Amino acid sequence: MKILITGATGLIGGELVKLLLEKNHTVNYLTTSKSKIKDKLNYKGFFWNPQEGKIDDRCIYDVEVIIHLAGANIAQRWTNEYKQEIIESRTLSSELIFNLVKKVPNQVKQIISASGTAIYPESFSKVYDETEIESEDSFLSNVVKKWEESVDTFNTLGIKVCKLRTGIVLSNKGGALPEMVKPIKLGVGAAMGSGKQIQSWIHINDLVAMYNFAIEKQLNGVYNAVSPNPITNQVLTKAIAKNLKKPLWLPNVPEFVMKLALGEMSYLLFSSKNLSSKKILDTGFQFQFSTIENAIEDLYA
Ligand SMILES: NC(=O)c1ccc[n+]([C@@H]2O[C@H](COP(=O)([O-])OP(=O)(O)OC[C@H]3O[C@@H](n4cnc5c(N)ncnc54)[C@H](OP(=O)(O)O)[C@@H]3O)[C@@H](O)[C@H]2O)c1
Repeated sequence: MKILITGATGLIGGELVKLLLEKNHTVNYLTTSKSKIKDKLNYKGFFWNPQEGKIDDRCIYDVEVIIHLAGANIAQRWTNEYKQEIIESRTLSSELIFNLVKKVPNQVKQIISASGTAIYPESFSKVYDETEIESEDSFLSNVVKKWEESVDTFNTLGIKVCKLRTGIVLSNKGGALPEMVKPIKLGVGAAMGSGKQIQSWIHINDLVAMYNFAIEKQLNGVYNAVSPNPITNQVLTKAIAKNLKKPLWLPNVPEFVMKLALGEMSYLLFSSKNLSSKKILDTGFQFQFSTIENAIEDLYA
């Protein structure tokens, strides 16, 4: 099957491409960097610039599934200008592909998009599932709403829309985990704030397996892409320290310190999202890494 991926050069995209090529799929991908374009038999890059409405029409030829991962990284200081980029890199990019699919004859039957857990209300105890209609009023929650709305438009073309509301992706190659590991390795790690905030996480191998599963089962609708065992920030910090055989002796880092250092982006460290993975489990998906100990052990053995 030919699959078009946006954001294929990122943390999740890189691992997903590897898996899809192993499964003998052909991958087309869209990139905003001409230097990242490769032209192999089963892995072919095409240039686009969503901000300027530029896209190479040839990217869609013979494509049956679109996977939409592109988006400006949220772990950079949230200036007003950058906030606009965080939103537009997700929404304008969806719109650009939508218009292409509308314009050019094609065989697209499904789009699978990354989405975020920020859409859910803050919770330390109540577990939220995909039926939840309450949402949080925060910058990131609004990003997720606009992002999902932009992808939902594909429904009007008779294309299945699957959205994977992704928790903190655990990888040793990038994202949040190496940032947590660094201070702990240096012996100066500590939990954040009360440490009681719940972190719904997923091992990167499980996440890319879930994308592949969504293709194979032609999933439609929204799914939480989180492991069955969310944990507190304190437990996560302790699990990393234990695995690295490093002591945790410092007091927790006060929230106001991180707010001063990171500004509004400190939201990422202190928000508490307690999410259910029941819906994806009920489809028959099996996690390889269900507990944080197994996930950390695998990534930092
Ligand atoms: N990692 C996580 O923990 C996590 C959790 C929840 C949701 N997600 C979401 O999942 C998606 C993929 O995550 P990731 O960790 O793989 O992200 P990533 O490593 O930052 O990669 C994202 C890719 O998006 C493209 N991109 C960056 N800025 C762009 C812009 N202004 N316009 C268009 N494309 C742009 C880049 O590809 P090119 O340079 O090739 O254009 C980049 O490789 C993101 O949308 C992210 O928000 C990630």
